[in-house]
Amino acid sequence: MELLFLVLLSLHIAKTATAGDKEWCYLSQLRTQPECTVPHFWDEVNEECGKEKQSPINIVTNKVEYKEDLKPFTFEGYTTDQSSLWLIENNGHTVKVSLSGSAKIGGGGLQNKYNAIEFHFHWGTKLNKGFSPGSEHTIDGERYAMELHIVHRKESFSTTEQAVANQEGLAVLGFFIKTGAKNEKYEPLIEMLNEVGFKGSQKNMTSLPLESLIPDKKNLTRYYRYSGSLTTPNCYQAVVWTVFQEPIILSESQVENFLKLYFSKDKPLPMTDNFRPVQPLGDRIVYHSDVSVVQPPAKALLVVPTLIYILSLLFQ
Ligand SMILES: *[C@@H]1O[C@H](CO)[C@@H](O)[C@H](O)[C@H]1NC(C)=O
Ligand SMILES: *[C@@H]1O[C@H](CO)[C@@H](O)[C@H](O)[C@H]1NC(C)=O
Ligand SMILES: [Zn+2]
Repeated sequence: MELLFLVLLSLHIAKTATAGDKEWCYLSQLRTQPECTVPHFWDEVNEECGKEKQSPINIVTNKVEYKEDLKPFTFEGYTTDQSSLWLIENNGHTVKVSLSGSAKIGGGGLQNKYNAIEFHFHWGTKLNKGFSPGSEHTIDGERYAMELHIVHRKESFSTTEQAVANQEGLAVLGFFIKTGAKNEKYEPLIEMLNEVGFKGSQKNMTSLPLESLIPDKKNLTRYYRYSGSLTTPNCYQAVVWTVFQEPIILSESQVENFLKLYFSKDKPLPMTDNFRPVQPLGDRIVYHSDVSVVQPPAKALLVVPTLIYILSLLFQ
């Protein structure tokens, strides 16, 4: 298997040396599109992808730091069924829903308000032996079944081009999706997946309250925060990332509906494993909003033994 991979990879390198404009792709597309650029080489698509503050990352829970500023978010326009239509599309990398309503977020330690502009998903694959998960972020190395990204743009910007030129131009909310009971609230969205099977297909759909797609607000006070990037080319390092601890629950058969989409227009190649591998954290710090789950710093741990030692001297 590894040998096969190496052969494919060297074929890929040989080809890319001569190819001109190449499309970027996920590793799962390499078998049928040997000329495409897999994540390891995305810096050839845009040099930004090779820089030092890239996403996703693995979050190591005993290294995160508590940050008091990370208060609960305020969600505006998340509860209302916006009367506008949503545009759902298969863009050849994911299923993406463009928003035209007025949903926005504030609080959450953000310096500004951010408007919701689109959401999309990342997922894994199904093998004979079971599901292989496909979230982008991992927690202590563990990957969830899927991940939802709701992309928000700083209120003061009117285009994404402006926002990506700013270090905090975008705020992405990341939600893990875990398998469990069927989630009725996702049915209207999942039914639309049939309509956008192939790359380039688009459909209008009745909008839903965004709140119906995420866990209860009460459970969104525990989250991780770090500075990173878009997880697809051009990998702009313009994202304030929030990764919530509480997952969304979907049933296995609901997750399977995403696996029925295709990367392609003509040759039907199932859209699977559309996640980028985790990137080096470098000298960044991941913060957490919840003091109770964060390990006390090493110095605080020393206080107790020191006190006991002093007391033992007194009572000798
Ligand atoms: C969606 O609706 C808008 C406005 O009604 C229309 O202009 C557009 O063509 C529709 N798009 C699709 C893909 O049906
Ligand atoms: C919030 O999370 C807790 C623990 O994970 C769970 O027991 C509870 O049902 C959740 N509440 C809601 C409203 O989802
Ligand atoms: Zn994403």
